[in-house]
Amino acid sequence: MSDTPSAAKDTLRIREMTIDDFPEVFHIGEQVFTAESFQSLYRTWDEYEITTLFNSDSELCLVAEAGDRILGFALGTTVTKHNSPWKYGYLVWVGVRLDIQQGGVGSGLFKEIKHRMKEQGVRMMIIDTSADNQPAIRFFEKQGFGDVQDHVYMSLNLSHKNRKKTVKKP
Ligand SMILES: CC(C)(COP(=O)(O)OP(=O)(O)OC[C@H]1O[C@@H](n2cnc3c(N)ncnc32)[C@H](O)[C@@H]1OP(=O)(O)O)[C@@H](O)C(=O)NCCC(=O)NCCS
Repeated sequence: MSDTPSAAKDTLRIREMTIDDFPEVFHIGEQVFTAESFQSLYRTWDEYEITTLFNSDSELCLVAEAGDRILGFALGTTVTKHNSPWKYGYLVWVGVRLDIQQGGVGSGLFKEIKHRMKEQGVRMMIIDTSADNQPAIRFFEKQGFGDVQDHVYMSLNLSHKNRKKTVKKP
């Protein structure tokens, strides 16, 4: 089987992830969610992300495959807030193998997870990604996302002792 995007498109199958897919999904995530470009303290790609999301809503954990090769995945969950009647669909991670990106796999995964979320009563989908992840932002815009909201993260290093400012005498 060729790895060209068009070949992947022709034979693409989207299905629910199974436990047997965990290693491959984890591996693809390690490829595409690199520490430099993607992760933050509250958002780190590790094996617990896969198991936690799988345990909370396996119907929203999908893989795309062609033949017996996993090409990408989408992991989501639903969120309800006590002060809102709306059910939100949070697409937490979507990743496609580097060598097959821009071949329609991400769109196929998105279409299916959106359909499933709608079936579960979701009224609004949400995603988040780094402000400098332009390919992903373009991808989500293409899927119809808008209303980009800025969110600022700040940090305070507690390992540094506070130094009192001393006024030097002339
Ligand atoms: C974002 C991602 C999942 C998209 O998957 P994909 O299979 O490459 O996307 P598709 O081929 O379905 O692209 C659909 C549209 O998205 C946009 N897009 C996708 N990749 C793009 C890129 N690198 N640059 C600009 N636009 C891009 C295009 O508008 C494209 O439509 P077009 O083919 O008609 O131009 C994939 O690039 C990826 O795994 N990125 C790294 C992980 C990541 O950032 N995930 C998102 C946050 S969790």
